[in-house]
Amino acid sequence: MADFFQTLLRGRPNGLRSRILGKITGARPADPTSAAGSTRREPPARAPDVHVEAAEKSMALHKEPPRDVTPPEGYEVVLHKDALEKGKIIEIIIGGTAIAIANVDGTYYATSNTCAHAEGPLGEGTLEGCIVTCPYHGWKYDVRDGSCKTNAYAKVATYPTQIVGNAVCVKL
Ligand code: FES
Repeated sequence: MADFFQTLLRGRPNGLRSRILGKITGARPADPTSAAGSTRREPPARAPDVHVEAAEKSMALHKEPPRDVTPPEGYEVVLHKDALEKGKIIEIIIGGTAIAIANVDGTYYATSNTCAHAEGPLGEGTLEGCIVTCPYHGWKYDVRDGSCKTNAYAKVATYPTQIVGNAVCVKL
């Protein structure tokens, strides 16, 4: 509505009234392609691909496990392979069993989610290379074989993984 009255008073941005007004007041006629002569707010210029990448990453993180995949005998589809960034570990519950899935440079490893020390959730720990650190008291485990680097007598179970299409499959 404001645009209508503005056009009624000043004329169209490049129209005769607008040019005459511009000569009288010294103001330049409004550029119809800019928002300067209009009260309408144009959307800001889109920032380069940073936002697009962030949005794609965010979408990937919310990808559901693929349903169109037939896992190998004895395996279960647990995750879309793009749902877990390299260097990250997460907790997943399959059939009532909590496991931790780690992405080590594009290779996925599955271990028990339960720390041998006091049952801390390894899937909530931090991953550096192939070593996960328990969030509770800092015991460290190698996700490739479940060996504990803090206590030589401790170990967590590991499970075979396979990638089928976009699916990470785990055999429990
Ligand atoms: S529960 Fe994992 S270090 Fe203590």
